Parts: sequence; structure tokens; C-alpha cells
Amino acid sequence: GKRIGILTSGGDCAGLNAVIRAVVHRAVLTYGWQVLGIKEGTQGLLQRPVQYQVLDLPQVDGNMMRMGGTILGTTNRGDPFAYPMADGSLKDRSDEIIGGYRELGLDALIGIGGDGSFAILHKLAQKGGLKMVGIPKTIDNDLGLTEVSVGYDTAVGVAVEALDRLQPTAASHARVMVLEVMGRDAGHIALAAGIAGGADVILIPEIAYSIEKIAAKIKQVRSTGRNFALVVVSEAVKTVDGTGVQKLFQGGQKRYGGIGDYIGEKIADATGAETRVTVLGHVQRGSMPSPRDRLVASAFGVHAVDLIAEGKFDRMVAWSNRGVIDVPITEAIARYAEVELDGALVKTARGLGISLGD
Ligand code: F6P
Repeated sequence: GKRIGILTSGGDCAGLNAVIRAVVHRAVLTYGWQVLGIKEGTQGLLQRPVQYQVLDLPQVDGNMMRMGGTILGTTNRGDPFAYPMADGSLKDRSDEIIGGYRELGLDALIGIGGDGSFAILHKLAQKGGLKMVGIPKTIDNDLGLTEVSVGYDTAVGVAVEALDRLQPTAASHARVMVLEVMGRDAGHIALAAGIAGGADVILIPEIAYSIEKIAAKIKQVRSTGRNFALVVVSEAVKTVDGTGVQKLFQGGQKRYGGIGDYIGEKIADATGAETRVTVLGHVQRGSMPSPRDRLVASAFGVHAVDLIAEGKFDRMVAWSNRGVIDVPITEAIARYAEVELDGALVKTARGLGISLGD
């Protein structure tokens, strides 16, 4: 039988443990293989001894389907090709990772990650002959060639729940509530949650906004006799003239989060409304996976193991047209998926009279 490794890499999200569970079930029950869980992404393969745990049915048959986070741990740190050393220098440590893979005697490795992690795993595979399959996860849902990534649906659900809770307090106090959500450079979470949560304004990075347009929408809402409004702001939104962004991206370094406060202030100035701001942050990553994420995680895990059985590597499993397919990982990395301006959700938002700030 084969021995396969599995690791989680990059930011965590809900559904990672459900993927691990699915991989172990398929590998053990269908093929009789052994599964080794590598600790903290590629970090586990860098350490000596290599940090891992054997994953058999008892390890995954508890509450793994339900549990947020990842039992293996994960990290955003350390591109092994330019690894930050204690003295501040960058060192190529890729050979150590390849050595770790060999030391464990792995026949293949399943990486659960996003585009950054896949790019690194692909480079390692090219250099050291690692046999690798990728499973897409990111709350941002910005990976190309897959309609959904693990974690996205749950994150949207958390943001919708926040709007459900903000609406009655907004109405009671006649306030404009601003909810800042994550998503990096893509507005998928904001757009989906904003529509489902009945927002009046949704700001996404793909559409530059102006405060005047937001204020006009809020005034229109008030003119109908409604005393409150809900505004969803994606964390990396930009104004039409570029202001409001510089303040947050100091020194050319991208740091997300905090734009909600700025927009809340500007809305108050422009409309005289009382505003309050909620920054949802990592709450979006840490909950129980939604049923949809559990299904996607399970289907992806099973298909990834089947790819290894078929000897198909350097591929990413993907959701497409009601089913699971697989695509070359290089194409998935290259195809960044922003919100499509002529897509169904933008049309829906506009059709509902939601302002997108433009
Ligand atoms: O990519 C997932 C994500 O949660 C983004 O939405 C967010 O910008 C970022 O990660 C936060 O990163 P960190 O966990 O390092 O604070």
C-alpha cells in the first residue's frame, strides 16, 4: 500500500478537518493506505525529526466533520525558497523540505491551501519530484477554476448572521450600521453576505466607491421612511480617487482591515446619520463548517485520493457544474478570481436596488 502525507497551509478556515477526515476515510477504507498528517504546513517537513502524526480512523472519527480550525495546525509563514532566518536574511531551505518528504517515505502529498501555498508546493514538486495534489480552501473564494473553495460558504454564513443581528439594533436606534468583512482583494464574501443579509450598500474592491454615492443611497432609504441602513464593506475597497486607502496601506505594505471605521466616519459626515462600525475579522474563519462546506470538503478529499490512485499529480481538485473535477494546478494559480462585474450576483445586487458605491 501507499503512504501519503497531508498538510494544511495558509490561513485556516472552517472545513479543513472535514477534508482531512475524507482523505483518511478514502485512503484507509478504499485503498488500505497509510496517511501521515504533517504539522503546521510545510514547517513540519522542515523540522528534524519531521513533525507528523499517523492519521487512522480513530483520529478522524470524532467530531472532525464539525470542528473548525485544523488539527494539523497551519502557518502563513515561510516560503521555503526564501525562508526568513532569525538574523533577518532569507535562505533557500527547499531541499530540507524535499528531504523531509523523502524521510517519511511518502508516495504523494495532499496540500490543502490557497494560491500561495500551491505555488510553493508546485515549485517543490518541480525541483524534488514530489507528487502533489492540491485541495482549494480559502474564505476569500478567489481561486480560479473552481466555483467554490472550502471555507467560503461558512464565512458568508457568519457575515449574514452578523447582519441578522445588526438589523434590529440598527432599526431600534435609527442608525447606519457598517459591517467590515474579510476577503482580501476580492469582494465575494461582501457581495454574497450583503445580498443575503439585506444590505443597502455593498462595497467591494472590484468597484471603486464614492462617499457621495453611498450618501445618496442612504438618503433615498430615509426618504422612504426607513430609519436605518446596513452597509457591508470589504476590507480592501478603494475610493474612485484613491483616498482612504493610503491611510491603511502604509509604507507600500498591504495590511487589511480598518477601512470600515473610515467609511463609517465619512457616512456620518455626509448624511448626519449616527453610524456604528463592526469589524468581523477572524470570527469569519473559526466556526463550525456549514453543511455546504462539509459536502465540498468531503467530495474534494475523496477525489484527491482517487487522483493519487490514478497517478495524476500536480493537479487541483475543483468544483464545477455540480460536480468535482481536477485541473492543472499551475492554471488554477494563474487564474485569480475576482467578482465578475457582469456576473449574476452583481446583477442581482443592482436589481435589488443595492448601491455598490459607484
Ligand atoms: O485569506 C484569508 C484571510 O482571512 C483574508 O480574508 C484576510 O485578509 C487575511 O486572511 C487575514 O490574515 P491573518 O490571518 O494573517 O490575519
